[in-house]
Amino acid sequence: MSETREAWSPSSWHDLPYGQQPAWPDPGALEQALKQVASMPPLVFAGEARSLQSELAQVAAGNAFLLQAGDCAESFEEFSADNIREKLRVILQMAIILTYSVGVPIVKVGRIAGQFAKPRSASTEQVGDLELPTFRGHIVNDATASEAARIPDPDRLVQAYHQSASTLNLLRAFTKGGFADLSRVHSWTQEFVATSPQGRRYEQLAAEIDRALSFMRACGIETEANSSLAEVDVFTSHEALILGYEEALTRQDSLTGNWFDCSAHMLWVGERTRELDGAHIEFLRGVGNPVGCKVGPSTSADYLLELCATLNPSRIPGRLTLISRMGADLVEDRLRPLLRAVTDAGHPVVWACDPMHGNTYSAPNGRKTRHFDQILREVGGFVRAHRAEGTWPGGIHVELTGEDVTECVGGGDAVSDADLDSRYETMCDPRLNARQSVDMAFRVAELLREFT
Ligand code: PEP
Ligand code: CO
Repeated sequence: MSETREAWSPSSWHDLPYGQQPAWPDPGALEQALKQVASMPPLVFAGEARSLQSELAQVAAGNAFLLQAGDCAESFEEFSADNIREKLRVILQMAIILTYSVGVPIVKVGRIAGQFAKPRSASTEQVGDLELPTFRGHIVNDATASEAARIPDPDRLVQAYHQSASTLNLLRAFTKGGFADLSRVHSWTQEFVATSPQGRRYEQLAAEIDRALSFMRACGIETEANSSLAEVDVFTSHEALILGYEEALTRQDSLTGNWFDCSAHMLWVGERTRELDGAHIEFLRGVGNPVGCKVGPSTSADYLLELCATLNPSRIPGRLTLISRMGADLVEDRLRPLLRAVTDAGHPVVWACDPMHGNTYSAPNGRKTRHFDQILREVGGFVRAHRAEGTWPGGIHVELTGEDVTECVGGGDAVSDADLDSRYETMCDPRLNARQSVDMAFRVAELLREFT
């Protein structure tokens, strides 16, 4: 099919089936909002997206590991410097634990600065007596349970742009301005180990990292004075769902003439919108950014090979990341034939594990949750599948927050079903809290240590 595709343009998706499209009530207002977004400066630059692609090429080759993490859905209301800083802090802590254990660079990509739109399994939901249009993320409508709040509002597209710009600005400041200093990030982890009920289990690894840092200092390497140890790159990513918004930020790179979606460094297509003949794949195939695709348990090898041929016909390493989200019970069996098919066909992909979206269930009180142990079990199955097929388990893709929420159960602090109501704050799916996330990094580090 890929051979018969027409020429691509930023608008060539317009006539194709477009799943998950919000019912914007006023086409004129939508057009106005998109025009406004199209007149704004790019949020990221083509050269940055190319750098991420080179780093991901290292992941594809087995020389680096991808940590993609952040909110399920960013919120217009919970938007603050503290919130962004805490999320970044957790990502940096996880990255150091993984760097030390896996012994390769960690490519850090946030689900941040643009992760606003949500695909939904149904277009309406029942709230008491009301049947309401579903909440589709703050870039579209509001979560409040009223008919008025759920009407898609195009002004939100402009607000999403501005919030992304402020978030990115702060991320750039934090990652280059001393906050990310290696010694400092490690001191937070030591504090975690000292106060975690599971701390003992991690003492040895944390002490090893500490000794490595002391060794460096003794050799005269001060982390603060060394930009490769005091500064980091954190790239941005989100699901490319609202294609009008993505198109409005798609710009031609003056250096190469190629088109880049300048709303984020990396874009992915979700499990519900990845039809080969659909609008979302059509849009992503033409942008120069690194792209990802979710791969659920029903994915066939034939589909995946066609997807690889469509999104990465030139087989550029780092261009395509396949993010499997199978569920803990299925991952090992379902993933193995896919690993084999893609490897045999010679496609240089990054394989990442999203252990969140296949492991969601309803707790007795009706809260959507995920169990820490199931999440870990999916990563375990993912690693085992790769070991069996001789491929590189290239990364993890997780939903987390830097706040002390109670949305996922289990983990070192043993959040229970009964705790879920106390701080359940997510706009959409349940996220790991800060301590569960660091806990997870140590556990994943153990799994990968066995691998490498
Ligand atoms: C998500 O990543 O938030 C998501 C909706 O995932 P998926 O498309 O895999 O269901
Ligand atoms: Co989610």
